[in-house]
Amino acid sequence: MKPFIPVWDVLIRLAHWSLMLAVTLAWLSAEVFGWFAMHEPAGYAAITIVVVRVLWGFVGSRYARFKQFMQRPSATWRYAWTVLRGHAPRYVGHNPLGGWMIMVLLSSIALTCVTGWLFTTDMFWGDPLVHLLHNVFAWTVLVLITLHVVGVAHASRAHHENLVSAMITGRKPAPEGDDCG
Ligand code: HEM
Ligand code: HEM
Repeated sequence: MKPFIPVWDVLIRLAHWSLMLAVTLAWLSAEVFGWFAMHEPAGYAAITIVVVRVLWGFVGSRYARFKQFMQRPSATWRYAWTVLRGHAPRYVGHNPLGGWMIMVLLSSIALTCVTGWLFTTDMFWGDPLVHLLHNVFAWTVLVLITLHVVGVAHASRAHHENLVSAMITGRKPAPEGDDCG
C-alpha cells in the first residue's frame, strides 16, 4: 500500500466544509426559502471564513500557503494544456488551475458579501446597481462552484485518488515519480 502524508491541515479542512455550508445556506435562504433571518448571518459567516483562509495563506502550514501553489499565468497555461492533452502531472497540493480557481472563488464570495452588506446600509439601501452586483457575484459564485466540483472530479479520476476524502482526512498518497510538490 502507498504511504500517505498529511497535506491539508485542520484549519483548511474546517474552513472548506464550513465555507461550503455557509455559502449553501446563504444561497438557499435567499433563493429557495426566502428566509432572510438566515441569509445575512450565513453571508457574514462566509466572509469571516474567507478572511481567515486568506490570512492562513500567508502563515499557515506548507500546502496552505499561496506561495506553495500559486503559479504564474504562463505556467498555468502550460499546465492547462497538459490537462487538455490528458497527461497532466499529479500535484500533492493544489494544481496551478486549482490555485487560480481558489483565488477567483474566494474573491467572488468576498465581493458577494460586501455588496450584500452595502445593500443593508442607509447609503445604498434599495440601490439597483448594488442589487444587480450582488446578484451577478452570487451567480458567479454558483458557476465557479460547479466548475470547482467538475475540476475535483476530473483530477480525482485522472490520478486515481479520492480528493474529497483527502479534504476530510487531510491525508494524500506521498509523491512518487513525476508528481509535483
Ligand atoms: C460552496 C461550495 C464550495 C466552496 C465555496 C468550496 C471552496 C473551496 C476552496 C476555497 C478550496 C481551497 C482549499 C484551501 O486551500 O483552502 C477548495 C478545495 C477543495 N474542494 Fe471545495 N468548495 C465547495 C464545494 C466543494 C464540494 C461539494 C466538494 C466535493 C465534491 C469539494 C471538494 C474540494 C476538494 C477535494 C478540494 C481540494 C482540491 C485539491 O485537491 O486541490 N468542494 N474548495
Ligand atoms: C456567500 C454569500 C452570499 C450569497 C451567495 C448571497 C446571495 C444572494 C441572492 C442569490 C440573493 C437574491 C437576489 C434576488 O433574487 O433579488 C440575495 C439577496 C440579498 N442579500 Fe445576499 N448573498 C450573500 C451574502 C449576503 C450578505 C453578507 C448580506 C448582508 C449582510 C446579504 C444581503 C442580502 C440582501 C439584503 C438581499 C435582498 C435583496 C433584495 O431585496 O432583493 N447577502 N443574496
